[in-house]
Amino acid sequence: MNIKNSWLKSGYVNETVPANIDLKEEISRLKKEKNAIIMGHFYQTDELQDIADFVGDSLALAQEAAKTDADIIVLAGVHFMGETAKILSPEKVVLVPDLNAGCSLADSCPPDKFKEFVDHHPDHTVLTYVNTTAKIKALSDIVVTSTNAKSIVDSLPTDEKVIFGPDRNLGNYLNSITGRDMVLWDGACHVHEKFSIEKIIELKKENPDALVLAHPECKKPLLVLADFVGSTAALLKHSTNSESTKFIVATESGIIHQMQKYNPDKIFIPAPPNDSTCACNDCEFMKLNTIEKLYNCLKYEWPSIQVPEEIRVEAVKPINKMLDISAKYGL
Ligand code: 13P
Ligand code: SF4
Repeated sequence: MNIKNSWLKSGYVNETVPANIDLKEEISRLKKEKNAIIMGHFYQTDELQDIADFVGDSLALAQEAAKTDADIIVLAGVHFMGETAKILSPEKVVLVPDLNAGCSLADSCPPDKFKEFVDHHPDHTVLTYVNTTAKIKALSDIVVTSTNAKSIVDSLPTDEKVIFGPDRNLGNYLNSITGRDMVLWDGACHVHEKFSIEKIIELKKENPDALVLAHPECKKPLLVLADFVGSTAALLKHSTNSESTKFIVATESGIIHQMQKYNPDKIFIPAPPNDSTCACNDCEFMKLNTIEKLYNCLKYEWPSIQVPEEIRVEAVKPINKMLDISAKYGL
């Protein structure tokens, strides 16, 4: 098998990086040479967050992808984040270091089944969370992220009928804080659903001064128990602005890197999952990206994200609506 075929099979360039090169220096050189930008999500490894030119949540990554003048976007995150960047900037090359970096939440919403769901609710506005494939976005009226979801729901007339997918936990949470009765798709993220409420209650007993911070993809009992619920960017901001000095963090553990950077004197305790001896909860898809894969993808400009044009032209409309409403609310 030639090397290129083995890359195509693996979904990333599996070529050994020479031991004698300084990876960070080489990445920086390639970036300049190719006019590339490295964008990373808060759930990436500390190393990748530190090497990125821009680190943010799903909304910030989409906003940056829409406005950057780089020719190449390296999106250190999962596939749907790369797709969103490509939909917004089709003329650019968008690379994801490992194409196997999927998302269980996006996978919980197959396009043919979602189309049936939409067709069953013909008079409903279709709101979808950004954690979906391009095909699902093409079936949507407005895309939301956890940062702007409440503002976008609130911007709709109160009597507007709405379906929301794919995250049932975020959907239930939005219904509870907006007083809506959106019809929900039954999907979820396996990482956020596996936090152990019992272990978190134990941790809270041991650390009564700690605030519990939770992402809205977590299950309802945890969201009820939490002192603050928000997107990764909102959790980071809250931990920085809060008077409290100790936090139990119920989202993917990568965000703690930024929390600790902004707040070196505060204590951040990762909330534990229910199924392992490990004390923190990682998204194995996010963690597929490594500095070696990032170097190789920038060097070979592969693997790149492709979105068929007929899907892209439909998918860009609800994303642009989201960006317009977000700009109106200063998000
Ligand atoms: P944020 O938009 O809050 O960063 O969430 C992304 C994500 O994948 C959560 O699981
Ligand atoms: Fe998807 Fe969950 Fe991973 Fe976020 S944490 S990328 S929702 S699987």
